Amino acid sequence: MITYTATSLLLLSAASAAAVRRTSHPHGLCHEFDVAITAEAPGAVYDLPQVVDDITTVQWAVQSDTWSWKARPDHGILENITISGTYNIHAQLCVPTGPDRKTNTLQIATHGGHYDRRYWDSEYKPEEHSYVYASLAAGYSILTYDRLGAGKSDIPDAYTGAQTALELDILRQITKKARDGTLVPAASWSYGGQDIPTKPDKIVHIGHSFGSVVTTAFLATYPNETDGGIITGFALNKYFGMTGFSSWYANYAGTAGWDRGSGYVVNQKSGIQVVFFGGDPKTAFTQELLDYGDSIKQPVPIGELASGAQIIGRPGPGLKAPVQFVLPEFDFFICGGDCKGVTDVSTLRQTWPAASDLELVIQPNTGHALPLHNNATAGFQLSFDFLARNGL
Ligand SMILES: *[C@@H]1O[C@H](CO)[C@@H](O)[C@H](O)[C@H]1NC(C)=O
Ligand SMILES: *[C@@H]1O[C@H](CO)[C@@H](O)[C@H](O)[C@H]1NC(C)=O
Ligand SMILES: *[C@@H]1O[C@H](CO)[C@@H](O)[C@H](O)[C@H]1NC(C)=O
Repeated sequence: MITYTATSLLLLSAASAAAVRRTSHPHGLCHEFDVAITAEAPGAVYDLPQVVDDITTVQWAVQSDTWSWKARPDHGILENITISGTYNIHAQLCVPTGPDRKTNTLQIATHGGHYDRRYWDSEYKPEEHSYVYASLAAGYSILTYDRLGAGKSDIPDAYTGAQTALELDILRQITKKARDGTLVPAASWSYGGQDIPTKPDKIVHIGHSFGSVVTTAFLATYPNETDGGIITGFALNKYFGMTGFSSWYANYAGTAGWDRGSGYVVNQKSGIQVVFFGGDPKTAFTQELLDYGDSIKQPVPIGELASGAQIIGRPGPGLKAPVQFVLPEFDFFICGGDCKGVTDVSTLRQTWPAASDLELVIQPNTGHALPLHNNATAGFQLSFDFLARNGL
């Protein structure tokens, strides 16, 4: 029987506390909730076209891919600004209840562009495709959240509202609350008479794609605020981004049925396949996985894409924690379609000279969306093995 102790609502506004939803996974308990996060970061007004329909969306993609536009020395900055606010962030915290529960290690997972937190927690065959399910089975707690501009979190102005440096500060503030045990509106949970601690001993940061850009910047900028990193679907290399935004086959979100304003674009299904699926279609993934991957897609704000240079590629000499890079073998956007040989541990060492362990693994016969391929659970296990090897 599952019981919950009384919740302490002091830490959250009544409005957000009302949104708490509890669900159970076969290997754990999940709380889904909204949390108010106050964050601030340097940002910019970028020289971007106004994207208001399909024609201006395609024009934006082509202009963004044009070599002379990409080469602008000022990254198209018209004005430097500060972006700040208190944002409603939607999140899910899951804790394992099985006998294999680790000594209270929490993973904080940051999803990439075109998705929200559901990227980590597939409802389609979760036992084969949900990283949350696999984490709970392996004994890890995991926090997933919708980045600003995605899912059920606040959807700000697409040009200056959701920029990369701000996403970094949001991740930092979420991490602080998680460490303090003040993230979830419950003082403690119990399961079968056993108390489940809400304060983690260790925090591992995991990212995918754009979420890995944010996560690597977090590891580099705040090295003493993490106990480990797992960077999936991202590593800087000479093919990074070479396929361009025009390969996304994006439409204007507002006319594709989304409640989004100017500057939000959304991939057509063909663009979802191009960017997120890869490998031999007879063995790597199925029609159902592609359909599911398309069904959970999200629009992206173009200002966020323009602002990547704010934090990308920061050196991390202060990081002593272990870091694992997981690259899909056939990642089109990150590796120009083939990640084999695009980087290696000695190249990564230049960025992370003091990391206690640094590993690069290639998950075979898989495209960018690692969980949505047939062999996903074997890939998840590589990360759990890495964590266990490092005492996490
Ligand atoms: C914005 O800040 C950067 C870095 O400090 C500086 O190089 C650039 O000139 C500034 N741009 C504008 C338009 O003020
Ligand atoms: C972590 O680093 C920050 C900034 O460099 C510093 O203010 C803080 O005291 C450090 N915390 C610990 C526990 O070392
Ligand atoms: C599945 O992934 C694991 C871990 O990377 C790998 O060892 C194995 O060869 C993969 N299997 C197939 C059929 O690709």
